[in-house]
Amino acid sequence: MYSTVFARRGLALVLAALAFGAKAQGPLTRDNGAPVGDNQNSQTAGPRGPALLQDVQLIQKLQRFDRERIPERVVHARGTGAHGEFVATADISRLTRAQVFAKGTRTPVFVRFSTVIHGQHSPETLRDPRGFATKFYTTEGNWDLVGNNLPVFFIRDAIKFPDMVHSLKPSPVTNIQDPNRVFDFFSHVPEATHMLTRVYSDLGTPASYRSMDGSSVHAYKFVNSAGEYRYVKFRWASKQGVKTLDAKQVAEVQSRDFNHLTRDLVDAIARKDYPQWDLYIQVLEPAQLASFDFDPLDATKIWPDLPETMVGTMILNRNPSNVFQETEQSAFAPANLVPGIEPSEDRLLQGRVFSYADTQLYRVGTNGLQLPINRPQAAVLNGNQDGAANFAITVSDVNYQPSRRFPMTEDATMKYSTLPLGGSTQQQRLQRTVNFRQAGEFYRGLDAGAKTNLIANLAGDLGQVKDSETRLIMLSHFYKADADYGSRLTQALKGDIALVRRAAESLVD
Ligand code: HEM
Repeated sequence: MYSTVFARRGLALVLAALAFGAKAQGPLTRDNGAPVGDNQNSQTAGPRGPALLQDVQLIQKLQRFDRERIPERVVHARGTGAHGEFVATADISRLTRAQVFAKGTRTPVFVRFSTVIHGQHSPETLRDPRGFATKFYTTEGNWDLVGNNLPVFFIRDAIKFPDMVHSLKPSPVTNIQDPNRVFDFFSHVPEATHMLTRVYSDLGTPASYRSMDGSSVHAYKFVNSAGEYRYVKFRWASKQGVKTLDAKQVAEVQSRDFNHLTRDLVDAIARKDYPQWDLYIQVLEPAQLASFDFDPLDATKIWPDLPETMVGTMILNRNPSNVFQETEQSAFAPANLVPGIEPSEDRLLQGRVFSYADTQLYRVGTNGLQLPINRPQAAVLNGNQDGAANFAITVSDVNYQPSRRFPMTEDATMKYSTLPLGGSTQQQRLQRTVNFRQAGEFYRGLDAGAKTNLIANLAGDLGQVKDSETRLIMLSHFYKADADYGSRLTQALKGDIALVRRAAESLVD
């Protein structure tokens, strides 16, 4: 299956290349396929005259160069990709009808790892969550699991995402990332305490992409063939082990190589040292949602103490042959789901289901899903049509449905699952917030060295915040999570512990 699929994709690539007249080697041509006579000297009016507009090779070469860039991703611009394969190893047909999880199924994948905040060629040493996005080319369509290395997120509602990103991006005035702006925002977001604690630990500076775990962060829904659903979280466990850099190591690595994450992955695959990850799931019955004192569909929370089941293994074994065509034009979207996997009601995920597909219509283009890296191995048949750069080969005049002349059939067994609802529409925060507890549990789980590094990393940025109220509020959040954590941070910042304690006492969890 694996080789057939890739043979098919490979053939498709060759056919696409031939269709555009591209050749691996041979005479140099213009884009219309005509041979080029001179690629070194422009056509000029005599030895001293101006260049001529009729030199179509010169004009076309400059025009194409002028248009080489597409917009970079609005977040996660810096990334590196690799091809591979996922093998399903457990029988979980009781939970999901998704074929990608039928035991023994081998599915080609493309993974893109990334940093989040800075631009396309920014240093990979910077503190950030890391993206871990996987596109599964399943027989039932593409499924994208667009996750991060850390298992939670800063916010729980998509409506906050653009503001959060604006505060984290470089200042529109200085073009420099500024902790004054970052913590001005986060001092209004107590639910960020858990994620901030993780990202300021050394997990925020991984040693390599190979030595990173991955997480869905959100709960999704697994739906079985009887239409029953359960909530599921996914975790990629690195078989290379989790390895991080401390601040001193970061400075040392950055001084000699700010591409260390990309270089490590590309080099490992080139020398056939293929990285692998096991995929684990946690499962909750719908009735269990009410039994937690926090909301289990809140993306700022993990599900502690819930057993994990291993469901498969992924290997990455092929570098892209062209970074732009594959890594940059790849379009991962939480909306790319397959029967048996659905979004949960997580408010952050609900926004993501819209946002990625939307940005990609702009970033990659209306027909971006026709590109070899994005197109599914499953046949695509619908009435969506036209748009810029459409290179599908459409043979029928039936671009509507239903039709007797060219039936495109619906399959009622593929309908979405149903969710019982009641009540009225609202604009209210979640009821069970519990903003600080899991941050404290994470802190207490760190060993002495990791705690010291976290305090130093966080104090380094918080110490740059000039506004004393912002600093006090941030310290109170960390104190509320854990008294030792907040006290040590306050000491590092030479703050007033009595004030911090009082501010923490007034916080509601
Ligand atoms: C409502 C919250 C969020 C919104 C609106 C959002 C939006 C976006 C957008 C617009 C992109 C660029 C996509 C592209 O140009 O192809 C992106 C990339 C990405 N996001 Fe988010 N994001 C959110 C939260 C998250 C969370 C919680 C995670 C992790 C679970 C995450 C992981 C990623 C990853 C891994 C990428 C890069 C995918 C790639 O490699 O192409 N994002 N996000």
